Amino acid sequence: MAPARRKGFLLGLVLALGALAASASLGANVTYDHRALVVGGKRRVLISGSIHYPRSTPEMWPDLIQKSKDGGLDVIETYVFWNIHEPVRNQYDFEGRKDLVKFVKTAAEAGLLVHLRIGPYVCAEWNYGGFPLWLHFIPGIQFRTDNEPFKAEMQRFTAKIVDMMKQEKLYASQGGPIILSQIENEYGNVASDYGSGAEPYVNWAATMATSLDTGVPWVMCQQPDAPDPIINTCNGHYCDQFTPNSNSKPKMWTENWSGWFLFFGEAVPYRPAEDLAFAVARFFQRGGTFQNYYMYHGGTNFSRTTGGPFIATSYDYDAPIDEYGLVRQPKWGHLRDVHKAIKLCEDALVATDPAYTSLGPNLEGTVYKTDSGLCAAFLANVGSSDATVTFNGKSYQLPGWSVSILPDCKNVALNTAKINSMSMIPTFVYESLSEVVVDSSGTVNVDWSWINEPVGISKNDSFAKLGLLEQINTTADKSDYLWYSLSTDIPGDEPFLNDGSQAVLHIESLGHALHAFVYKKLAGSKAGNSGNSKIAVDIPVTLLPGKNTFDLLSLTVGLLNSGPFYEKTGAGITGPVKLKNSANGSMIDLSSQQWTYQIGLQGEDKGLPSGSSLMWITQSSLPKNQPLTWYKTTFAAPAGNDPVAIDFSGMGKGEAWVNGQSIGRYWPTNVAPGSGCTDSCDYRGAYDASKCLKSCGKPSQQLYHVPRSWLKPSDNILVMFEEVGGDPTQISFAMRQTQSLCSRVSESHPSPVDMWNPESESKTGKTPRPILSLECLRPNQVISKIKFASFGTPRGTCGSFSHGKCSSNRALAVVQKACIGSKSCRVDVSIDAFGDPCKGVTKSLAVEASCA
Ligand code: GAL
Repeated sequence: MAPARRKGFLLGLVLALGALAASASLGANVTYDHRALVVGGKRRVLISGSIHYPRSTPEMWPDLIQKSKDGGLDVIETYVFWNIHEPVRNQYDFEGRKDLVKFVKTAAEAGLLVHLRIGPYVCAEWNYGGFPLWLHFIPGIQFRTDNEPFKAEMQRFTAKIVDMMKQEKLYASQGGPIILSQIENEYGNVASDYGSGAEPYVNWAATMATSLDTGVPWVMCQQPDAPDPIINTCNGHYCDQFTPNSNSKPKMWTENWSGWFLFFGEAVPYRPAEDLAFAVARFFQRGGTFQNYYMYHGGTNFSRTTGGPFIATSYDYDAPIDEYGLVRQPKWGHLRDVHKAIKLCEDALVATDPAYTSLGPNLEGTVYKTDSGLCAAFLANVGSSDATVTFNGKSYQLPGWSVSILPDCKNVALNTAKINSMSMIPTFVYESLSEVVVDSSGTVNVDWSWINEPVGISKNDSFAKLGLLEQINTTADKSDYLWYSLSTDIPGDEPFLNDGSQAVLHIESLGHALHAFVYKKLAGSKAGNSGNSKIAVDIPVTLLPGKNTFDLLSLTVGLLNSGPFYEKTGAGITGPVKLKNSANGSMIDLSSQQWTYQIGLQGEDKGLPSGSSLMWITQSSLPKNQPLTWYKTTFAAPAGNDPVAIDFSGMGKGEAWVNGQSIGRYWPTNVAPGSGCTDSCDYRGAYDASKCLKSCGKPSQQLYHVPRSWLKPSDNILVMFEEVGGDPTQISFAMRQTQSLCSRVSESHPSPVDMWNPESESKTGKTPRPILSLECLRPNQVISKIKFASFGTPRGTCGSFSHGKCSSNRALAVVQKACIGSKSCRVDVSIDAFGDPCKGVTKSLAVEASCA
């Protein structure tokens, strides 16, 4: 090793060891008792968040993890995704986005702990629930039950991961960051379907996991009968009512769903920050000490990793960090404040059990109080109307569906319905994808080339079989695509051909979508949907005497990932396939004829996704709206560092690759239902995944993330395979930016939680005041413009604020003076600063600003 390199190496090693040591001091020796996880001898209140390493890139990990830390997380949780690590039995892959060790070390370097959910069944909206497809072909195998071949494979993979972690000294017991591991996933939800195989399987899984000797506790989520010493944990939108199955286990929440996932064909779910904060505070109010956001950053289902069927490529999840890696406000900031308020209570929370008192209907007070003088309290209003309660002789306002956190049992550090954090209007700035060259004839010439994918059988590994085959057993998920081709003779005297009425081709498929070609022309397409993947379709056809050719392209859109025996659910055109004549009722059943099959596309075999091949056609007559077309272009990366997406408007359905890396399936023509959405969802009342939806009547997903690190400054190659037909010249870049910052804080808001210091206040006699704060997100930006400011009774929301009846005429000037030219500013929300425009009314300050 050259001396200079050695020096760099040593420095790197020292830094890495230093960072590991920082977390190691947190990490050593993990046990638990009835109150909490005990880390290094100390009971801990732990805030955790899920980030799944293959749903972002290694280049994004440090920033995502830093933003998690800044948001108040102690722990990063991830599943381990078996099928990306062992695509072929005994051939492992831990490179790039699959570099699990690097991901765990990145968390450690930031000083964060890790919860490793090995599963290896993970659900997770991940293809086939995380199981490799080859598992399905092991003779005699039955998944997730007391079955020897299955247990042997599950144990082999689990042990492999545990060994890897041990070798790298990543368990807390070895000085590393991993404080917790999970075996199985929500098996309790399906156990009864597995009958007598379930209980022995659960016991076996528990013993197997424990025997791997990680030195840290194991959990099973949603597993009421998890055997000791495994901790059973809760998953859901709320877990305050959960109790573990033994008094010697702590109350833990492994999945607090921060929003929900998206299906192609559905509207986009979101979960209001006030409700998520309420759920978190309620959990800690009612004795919880470990809580994990599922997801804290959802990310992207690149390539064909998405589960399904029909789960979208975006896995944004309305998480506190958005798909592109930017904080989602006010959610991220409000939760950060909630975490701070809870941490102010940590000593009391871990020291004792909660004592509950009713403060009226739907009103609950909880006190954690020790003889040594610690006291923390939570006051909850679980009804939807506002209330005033008396607690310890003091009166407190409690908005509906909210919790107030009192770290000293007297003063409110935070109320979950009163957001001090700023909000943001995200925006996408568009840029054209290719250089547009206008030639002498005035026509726009965009640098696209193409290759036609042949209709029907074109590869020499095709094969013939009598009857219709199930798709997943046939393709082993090597490709989304399976061709079913049939050439059949129709005698000239067939009544079909002679009575002049319309014949139809009737196709029944288990799903997920199909395109039917008759005489090599696209005659019809049909897809299932999130509620029902099956398809039955009647396609009008004109038949000719003699040979008739039917080429049916069947495709999967992510394999099922949940439910009992989900791995047995088939796909593809299992029939019947018939020719029908509705006029005279005659019918020819084609199902049991000899069909010819082709797994995958010719272009896939030829490596077209990488853009290679000499076959690309470059003529000015670019084919548009033609099915089965491969398109290719080269492009320069958009300037700057903003996250990049491609807007696929104009395209139909397919998959896209940037520099050979798949950015996932695109399907902008799959549109959400026209109704059922609301822009301002009432956070009060129990949330479920269908309560708050947006983007009705619009494509479920129009924008597809292209990680910056996949781009070079120029000569990037974009390849798309289009199934149905589209116009590639319409697609464009969309850069994720922030349009405005806003905040709205009332006189009744608590002061910012990071200023919480009642002791010094009681000494100085100063009462804490609500404060409105704004901060530009980019390092070199300052607040350049106050677009709106009103102190009084402003109306509307961020981007549409307007003055109410009451408004101070000083507001704009006061806010401008405090903020313009600064990276961040804080403004007192009080009549001292603004005068009193309407006495006796609780006033708010609302501000919209922009940075430059
Ligand atoms: C849970 C499951 C997770 C994920 C989640 C929904 O039931 O454990 O893996 O699928 O639902 O996003």
